[in-house]
Amino acid sequence: MMPTVELHLHLEGTFEPELIFAVAERNGITLPYGDIEELRRRYEFTGLQNFLDLYYANMAVLRHEQDFADLTRAYLARARRAGVRHAEVFFDIQAHTSRGVPAEVALGGVSEALAASEREFGISTGLIVTFLRHLPAEDALRSLEEILRLDVPLLGVGLCSSEVGPAAPFKPVYDLARAHGLRRVAHAGEEGPAANVREVLDVLGVERVDHGIRALEDDALVDRLVAERVPLTLCPLSNVRLRVLDNLAEYPLRRMLERGLVVTINSDDPAYFGGYVDENVRQLTDVLGLSLDELTTLARNGVEAAFVDDARRAELA
Ligand code: ADE
Ligand code: ZN
Repeated sequence: MMPTVELHLHLEGTFEPELIFAVAERNGITLPYGDIEELRRRYEFTGLQNFLDLYYANMAVLRHEQDFADLTRAYLARARRAGVRHAEVFFDIQAHTSRGVPAEVALGGVSEALAASEREFGISTGLIVTFLRHLPAEDALRSLEEILRLDVPLLGVGLCSSEVGPAAPFKPVYDLARAHGLRRVAHAGEEGPAANVREVLDVLGVERVDHGIRALEDDALVDRLVAERVPLTLCPLSNVRLRVLDNLAEYPLRRMLERGLVVTINSDDPAYFGGYVDENVRQLTDVLGLSLDELTTLARNGVEAAFVDDARRAELA
């Protein structure tokens, strides 16, 4: 059984160079790269911030509802080929509203494509708006209040971008999300220490941790994650490309599985990191020699960690 659920995927991180150029051209925007090859040559990252700079720069060509719908459909088409049957996708709404794109335009395009996903691609979906940790928490709160006024189906909220500064100021955002019945996740323990994972559990009350790989540095924390079955959405190729680890051979997946952590395999920003979820699983399987049992556990973990109802969980199992 291969993993069929994707739980850690930034829609803007699926923006392939070909589509970046096509959208830029139809919007009359001149990119600072002569061609696709020149852009691709920049996909050599020294760390998270260095990647984020390019990621935010490229998404600035997204202006119209159609652009967001095209981005979303391109991901869904690729995800279907990867065997994905359920995807909970992240969308960095503030990265668009902060440069003048109205929330209803950006979310309109994304949600239109997601609404058609089961019919067009056979993939059930959920939308998680991810707030940017490098911006003031008050901006995130205002953004969530605005989104809640729009008629957009929302599954949950998340927190991403540079892992600097405390997450605690975002507590009111998570409290508001909880009051509205939204699910709650956050990036932590990617570049930042295990203490960041504790903080998002204790202060924000998250139900899953995105990345969380550095939780391994704190034995008591690992015990707690195991006991409470808090899923970690791992992104192996991302961690290598952003130099969290030197190479896949060092990936501590087997150690995590043996400890009983509920880990899942995901692609994060596949257009930038050299592979969609199928490629993440394939390379890990090759390099670590994953067994059929281990692959089955990863697939089951994805189904367990998904924010779906019992009927859908049974279908995915
Ligand atoms: N936004 C997009 N990709 C991210 C990552 N890997 N970490 C934090 N924020 C992100
Ligand atoms: Zn991420």
